Amino acid sequence: MSRCWLTGASSGIGAVLALRLLEQGHQVALGARRAESLANLAARFPGQVLLAIGDVDQPEQVALIASQIEQAWGSLDLVILNAGTCEYLEPGQFDPALIERVIRTNLIGTSHCLAAALPLLRRGQRPHLVVMGSSVSWFALPRAGAYGASKAALRYLVESLRLDLARENIDVTLVNPGFVDTPLTRRNDFPMPQLWSAERAAGYIAARLPRRPLEITFPAAFTLLLRLLGALPARWRLKLGLRLARQPQG
Ligand SMILES: NC(=O)c1ccc[n+]([C@@H]2O[C@H](COP(=O)([O-])OP(=O)(O)OC[C@H]3O[C@@H](n4cnc5c(N)ncnc54)[C@H](OP(=O)(O)O)[C@@H]3O)[C@@H](O)[C@H]2O)c1
Repeated sequence: MSRCWLTGASSGIGAVLALRLLEQGHQVALGARRAESLANLAARFPGQVLLAIGDVDQPEQVALIASQIEQAWGSLDLVILNAGTCEYLEPGQFDPALIERVIRTNLIGTSHCLAAALPLLRRGQRPHLVVMGSSVSWFALPRAGAYGASKAALRYLVESLRLDLARENIDVTLVNPGFVDTPLTRRNDFPMPQLWSAERAAGYIAARLPRRPLEITFPAAFTLLLRLLGALPARWRLKLGLRLARQPQG
């Protein structure tokens, strides 16, 4: 049984992952801004849940959560930084404020959580850090500049941090999902090949976490295709990307 902090536990992949971890008997600090569904889980698993309510964009809220975890448990064995958001850039309407919002949550918010979690992980049992990336980071898709940039940056951050943390015996896993059916993707108005349910995605992640792989990637065929496309010369990537692109509105 480990003591875990899971961010983004109020919906989608994180909500099902929270349930799986609690069913496995772990103690879990459940993070999100919306408290309601987290309180329901706390009632279902008495003594196992710590409510970690707050906005990852706000460093003082993240620091408060970490101090609450420290007071309750003293340390952490597993940290899963899953909270994230997605917005798409519309062609012809480049919007740096949108980019700032997405980067602030996905990259900077994750970094606030890292800063708060690492001192607790260093005191944990066989510490394991898990960060939610995306398979989009392998191949640039139209309109996905903000989201893709945030996840590509997370990939680099995680791979670099893994080198720095190796000396401290902190294992680091990057998760690269394809499309998963969640409130985040239900807003998408384009085809999502090989869409997995949140139950399937969370089950796949939960089953692999104990092995501490460097990466957890699914679905196999779709993510392999994105990797192969991403390795093509730039001109071919442009040609393929343009076939997926949308014309400017108006
Ligand atoms: N669904 C996919 O196809 C897919 C594919 C690849 C990667 N991912 C990644 O998987 C992760 C989970 O996504 P999901 O699809 O499960 O989406 P989701 O259902 O929208 O869940 C996002 C979670 O993040 C939390 N969150 C968002 N902004 C936050 C903030 N500023 N502070 C604290 N918590 C915040 C949300 O909680 P509150 O709103 O209550 O704060 C929610 O619990 C994300 O990192 C996403 O990028 C998803």
